[in-house]
Amino acid sequence: KKRVAVLISGRGSNMTALIEAAKAADYPAEIVAVIANKVDAGGLETAKAHGIAAHAIAHRDYPTKQAHEAAVSDALQAAGAEIVCLAGYMRLMSAEFVQAWEGRMINIHPSLLPLFKGLHTHEQALEAGVRVHGCTVHFVTAGMDEGPIIAQTAVPVLNGDTSDSLALRVLSVEHETYARALAQVASGKAVMQAGRTVFSD
Ligand code: GAR
Repeated sequence: KKRVAVLISGRGSNMTALIEAAKAADYPAEIVAVIANKVDAGGLETAKAHGIAAHAIAHRDYPTKQAHEAAVSDALQAAGAEIVCLAGYMRLMSAEFVQAWEGRMINIHPSLLPLFKGLHTHEQALEAGVRVHGCTVHFVTAGMDEGPIIAQTAVPVLNGDTSDSLALRVLSVEHETYARALAQVASGKAVMQAGRTVFSD
């Protein structure tokens, strides 16, 4: 099984979904550490309750982005992490950090990329008037929300939707989408090559 660290900033429902999925005997990854960049990230307690090493490495406690990332790198190395999953990790990483993990770091984004990069994706979708929305799991590359796509799931936009109702519908498909995508990466069935995802079965 591949050793996976999950980086979070908040409640960690996607993190929890990965932890649950990884309990299956035939799942190709195990979650070995959870790291939050905020001390009050709710997901830290959830991770501990599952018996997983959980670390708060608050960016506020470090003088520079570089110093914070060095601390995160140390924790990843100490955990023996082979794959990094960003799950609601709301902090941009330096090009150096991204490059160090290229092909081995994945992220979930709450839109059907390449539409609606960045923040407030559900507001962006409502504003654009799309009738289909969803989530994307992708390899992390230097451009924000631009890396090669591994998995996507679509949901309908319904009449009367608010950004909250839409966010809930998207979240309800994020969890299984992320668990499926991580399995593909951990098993080597989805590989990043020359800026594309190459799939095999
Ligand atoms: C999820 O909807 C995730 O897609 C989104 O934050 C939420 C985290 O929820 N990520 C981003 O917006 C990344 N820019 P969770 O903490 O319950 O998994």
